[in-house]
Amino acid sequence: MLYHRPEQSEQAAFYGSWCRLEAAQQAPLVDEASLFLDHSGMWLCMPDYPQPYQPSNADLLRRASNGGSRTELARACGSTLNGLRILDACAGYGSDGLLLAHLGAQACLVERDRLIWILLHERTQHIPRTEAICDQASNVLRGRSPDGDTSPTTTWDVVLLDPMFPPIAKKALPNRGLQHLRQLTEAPLAGSPEFEDELTELLALAKARCSGRVVVKRRLKDDVTGRVDFQIKGKSVRFDVYLGAA
Ligand SMILES: C[S@@+](CC[C@H](N)C(=O)[O-])C[C@H]1O[C@@H](n2cnc3c(N)ncnc32)[C@H](O)[C@@H]1O
Repeated sequence: MLYHRPEQSEQAAFYGSWCRLEAAQQAPLVDEASLFLDHSGMWLCMPDYPQPYQPSNADLLRRASNGGSRTELARACGSTLNGLRILDACAGYGSDGLLLAHLGAQACLVERDRLIWILLHERTQHIPRTEAICDQASNVLRGRSPDGDTSPTTTWDVVLLDPMFPPIAKKALPNRGLQHLRQLTEAPLAGSPEFEDELTELLALAKARCSGRVVVKRRLKDDVTGRVDFQIKGKSVRFDVYLGAA
């Protein structure tokens, strides 16, 4: 369900083929995950949370202007990002892919969960050089569009893979946005055979379609998948970089 302020009815109508629309003055209390659109954008409403959640564009801008190009993510993607064609194949709210777009890249963001994609799509409307696609990463990497056409010639300068990490026992809860992503997506857990199979498949597809770097975001202690070319480590995550073969 997408609730929207009456003034936003035209904007909300764009999403009418994916969800039911209903006008509301404010974000309602819900018993299933829903969306609310007002003048400040799209919000996620979750059961048991009185306040809706919105990923912060102000944080994104702050990250971009406070040394964004020196972050481990940006350094893993390349020495300069200007004009690079980046596929963020597991985009979530897009915080990583949109940061790269703020730093000059052209970012295509792929998210398979419809509700998260709507949040992401609305967010990209205000950020130049971005597009958001709702699909499986493997379809996009194979060049398959939702209507069945294939375009085998598309290649990317950088492909970013950031699948969902499972919760760690005894660790503090992750931030609210990540908690909701975990609640909403039914991704196989890291370490499980399904997770490793999916990541191995995505990595092979990404390398075949990438002329520069495939960057896989992992937790510091996660196993390495395949033969990595180099790694950039942060405090809690690392970026495994594989050279593309396209
Ligand atoms: C850890 S989150 C990504 C967070 C993101 N880097 C950010 O900055 O907000 C992983 C996301 O990837 C999506 N995802 C996982 N596997 C996918 C796949 N094979 N195709 C498309 N989306 C996928 C999940 O639905 C989830 O929203």
